[in-house]
Amino acid sequence: MKIAVIGTGYVGLVTGTCFAETGNNVTCVDIDESKVKSLQAGKITIYEPGLDVIFDRNIKQDRLHFTTDLAEGIKGAKVIFLALPTPPGEDGSADLKYVLGVAEDLGPILEDYAVIVDKSTVPVGTAEKVRDRIAVNAKVEFDVVSNPEFLREGVAVDDFMKPDRVVIGTTSSRARKIMETLYAPLVRQGNPILFMDERSAELTKYAANSFLATKITFMNEIANMCELLGADVDAVRKGVGTDTRIGKRFLFAGIGYGGSCFPKDVQALAKSAQQVDYDFSILKSVMEVNERQKTKLIPRMKEYFGGDLSGKTIAIWGLAFKPYTDDIREAPALYNINQLLEAGARVKAYDPEAMENVKKVIGDKIEYSDDAYEAVKDADALFIATEWPVFRTPDFDKVSEYLNNKVIFDGRNLYSLEEMKDLGFTYFSIGRENIYG
Ligand code: UDX
Repeated sequence: MKIAVIGTGYVGLVTGTCFAETGNNVTCVDIDESKVKSLQAGKITIYEPGLDVIFDRNIKQDRLHFTTDLAEGIKGAKVIFLALPTPPGEDGSADLKYVLGVAEDLGPILEDYAVIVDKSTVPVGTAEKVRDRIAVNAKVEFDVVSNPEFLREGVAVDDFMKPDRVVIGTTSSRARKIMETLYAPLVRQGNPILFMDERSAELTKYAANSFLATKITFMNEIANMCELLGADVDAVRKGVGTDTRIGKRFLFAGIGYGGSCFPKDVQALAKSAQQVDYDFSILKSVMEVNERQKTKLIPRMKEYFGGDLSGKTIAIWGLAFKPYTDDIREAPALYNINQLLEAGARVKAYDPEAMENVKKVIGDKIEYSDDAYEAVKDADALFIATEWPVFRTPDFDKVSEYLNNKVIFDGRNLYSLEEMKDLGFTYFSIGRENIYG
């Protein structure tokens, strides 16, 4: 099938590359000329494990193309994905200017029936708006379908190729058939394609992400209670997660959720609720608690250093909002760095992938280390913000030797309390006993 993907950001590039991999002829369109040039030259523009291999293969096999020309890109395409940014506007609601702008451009250049697919996370009612915009100048028949993505950064290829489910919002049987054919190779193992109306599909995406953000936040609140009541959040997590109604995943307490989706989607759903006069109070709490949680180790650090962090050197392990990505959007690490700098501390950071992106945002306000050990050299404390596997079993002898004080503030609960006791570290984590070495 010939398909087009408009927007070569994270979602667009994964979608285009993976659909080329299942044998479709894909053209990705973007207005950013330098990005398209890189992609045409075979240089992938995002970091996503495993995607580069598929990308190379499909370019070589001539199934994956890039252009800045919208009309050329959609020529002959049966399905046109809109994978455009929907940044939060000033009031927190999703800004649809890119999506609706492209919809308007599409109208006059559609030459044949096509299914236009909203892949971006968009508020309920957007499919109708897109349809109206295209219809203004369209000369041919078309359908607009909502098909939200559920890709996790770092494992997006797997999530795309073996989805738990595919959600497709459409009431058109013609569009349904085409989408069914397109997705058939990805659901061979029996996972469902769930067809529903457009509005329900649009809401499903917000509901899923907000639910997961709530699940994490709930555990973070339990962790805070554990600290006050002398319980251990790891034990409680196992105790509740083994109930199949609750499930083991997304129960890890820490310094809050970040990334490009959860914060934005929770905020957008809260805004939607406000617009229809619904008091979605649980979402307000989730946002509030997550905000507090991100920097909850800073007061503890201040207390440890006698109330004053000025002149102290803090090593930070992990800058990305989670492992296996270079994405630093809404990364808890950055909120902590800001507070540390405000308090007069010096920060030495290491992250396996995200340092270049951090340099672009905060430049030389902090120091960047070549590896994890370099970061702790002469530091007064180690702060862990992201659970990269390389931080899980470090050479603790080296860490103790390099640090001025054997103290770790662990925002991701990487180490066992016994290990920290045995090694003589002072260790502060989330929802667990403090260890004084
Ligand atoms: C998320 C959704 O999972 C995905 O379906 C959606 O399409 C996009 O948003 P992503 O943002 O890539 O994906 O990351 P995810 O792995 O879901 O983690 C989100 C945040 O929650 C991270 O900051 C992570 O550190 C945090 N998290 C996750 C926890 O704090 N505890 C957990 O138990 C799980």
